[in-house]
Amino acid sequence: MLLAGRVALVTGASSGIGAALAAMLAEEGARVAVAARREAELRELARRIELAGGTALTVATDLTDDAALRRLVERTVDELGPIDVLVNNAGFAVWKPLELTSVAEWDQTFAVNIRAPALLTATVLPGMQARRFGRIVNIGSEAGVAIVPSLAAYCVSKHALVALTEVVQDANHENGIKAWVVCPGFVDTEMGTVVPGAKPENFLKVEEVVDLVRYLLGLGDNVKLGPPVLVRTMRNPMPS
Ligand SMILES: NC(=O)c1ccc[n+]([C@@H]2O[C@H](COP(=O)([O-])OP(=O)(O)OC[C@H]3O[C@@H](n4cnc5c(N)ncnc54)[C@H](OP(=O)(O)O)[C@@H]3O)[C@@H](O)[C@H]2O)c1
Repeated sequence: MLLAGRVALVTGASSGIGAALAAMLAEEGARVAVAARREAELRELARRIELAGGTALTVATDLTDDAALRRLVERTVDELGPIDVLVNNAGFAVWKPLELTSVAEWDQTFAVNIRAPALLTATVLPGMQARRFGRIVNIGSEAGVAIVPSLAAYCVSKHALVALTEVVQDANHENGIKAWVVCPGFVDTEMGTVVPGAKPENFLKVEEVVDLVRYLLGLGDNVKLGPPVLVRTMRNPMPS
């Protein structure tokens, strides 16, 4: 198994891509901490992971709360061990152009999409450097490499996530640490289904994103792919 004996922490694991990534990491042998606000969904995921023979720790966490972020890392380390794999997957989006985006929406978008990933990464990096092993998987978006004016705050925050990932990777080439920012087009999740005018049958499937992350984690130590990895659909998800 790819991650036998490793510890992984996945944010936004109560649904969609995060829940499927957590299940995959457990399948690959990692002991997995799963975080999000919806505790019942996390518990159900943990139950499924444990039924399949894995280990899961649920930590109900609002990623906009600094004390909760600290507790998330502390509980994971105390109950599972030092974190080898950090998956910053949680995301928040409002479909609004810049001029309609409120201050509260800017703050929420940045807190979830960039501030929490930056703080969590900064907390786990020293341990990864000391152990000379770390994998950081940030879930970005096609809107993090292309310009989407109708998703103004989200688009800017996901561009920042690309920059954060590059900053982490650049400083850690020699430390056994790899960082990616996986940038999907539309995916068939709760977040994807609210896209106005979209054609969900043309969306990426969650499992297709998960398979890509599994592939990245399996690459050899000296192989650099990304940090940004763009994955889109062949068929148009937004026919005009
Ligand atoms: N679906 C798409 O079309 C698409 C395309 C490109 C990129 N992405 C990215 O993929 C990632 C996963 O999204 P998804 O598509 O799987 O959608 P999803 O099912 O709606 O998942 C979003 C996750 O983020 C968590 N989250 C949001 N705000 C949070 C907060 N304040 N504190 C803790 N957790 C929070 C949610 O958990 P709780 O509500 O339980 O807190 C949920 O688990 C996101 O980063 C998103 O930007 C999605």
